[in-house]
Amino acid sequence: MAGGLTIERVDACFGAHIHGIDIATIDDAVYAAIRELLTEFGLLVFPSQHLTLEEQNAFATRFGPLEFPAAAITNIAPDGSVLSDQANDTVKSIRGNEGWHHDSTYMPVQAFGAVVSAEIVPPDRAPTGFADMRAAFDALDTAAQDQLRTLSAKHSLYYSQGRSGYLPTQRDDGTYAMYGYHDKETPVRPMVKIHPDTGRENLLVGRHAHEITGMDPVESEAFLDELNDWACTGDRVHYHQWDVGDVVVWDNRRLMHRATEFDLTNPRRIWHTRIAGDPSTEAADNHRLVS
Ligand SMILES: [Fe+2]
Repeated sequence: MAGGLTIERVDACFGAHIHGIDIATIDDAVYAAIRELLTEFGLLVFPSQHLTLEEQNAFATRFGPLEFPAAAITNIAPDGSVLSDQANDTVKSIRGNEGWHHDSTYMPVQAFGAVVSAEIVPPDRAPTGFADMRAAFDALDTAAQDQLRTLSAKHSLYYSQGRSGYLPTQRDDGTYAMYGYHDKETPVRPMVKIHPDTGRENLLVGRHAHEITGMDPVESEAFLDELNDWACTGDRVHYHQWDVGDVVVWDNRRLMHRATEFDLTNPRRIWHTRIAGDPSTEAADNHRLVS
């Protein structure tokens, strides 16, 4: 393997820890090997990297343009205090992420993936869960696969955060200041996504999905709840237990992920660099550019 990488599979049908590499100094050949491994495994964990944010963003940029550079996901307020009040908008955002989801399906263009590093890890390690939607689709019976191939759903933060009771504070004009609460048409996405690199079919579901086209909204919600619950079980799920200095990258076109509840009286800070999706393959059906 290029650069002396060693691969240690995790206890799931996807995912691997990669050892013997210093991300900050990789060359093009090692990056190419990593890119292949990401396509194969969907989730790569690089322990003990301790990257600067500049190094993290540079690594993420190798995969493509960024949707946004390293942003803190943290319960540490700008004044250094630790936020645990459930009414706080930052805490609401953290808690909302405990539902399984793909990143930015609520945006016109879904994310390619993300590079995340851990700077401050609480005693309970605040694990992040990952779930393989390619394996989930493969595990469905033929009738269910055929049905899902015909279905599309809306994706929205207004829906997911509203349903879980975690919408942020409204501004005077009724809008929200946080990322993802846009006023564009609600993205509509097929429930089966063809992965642009592998050609394989993947379920595209998660907490942002709602109002399946042509289905009663109540029926749609129950259908999606059942599908999400079933999809994220067994060896299709892996929880990463964070250590300080870990770097993780995942393929958001295949995997879902979720935060887990941790003791918010302890400080935690991870840094999330979001890699933009390719509009030619990751745009919502109603946000494709007319050529
Ligand atoms: Fe996320």
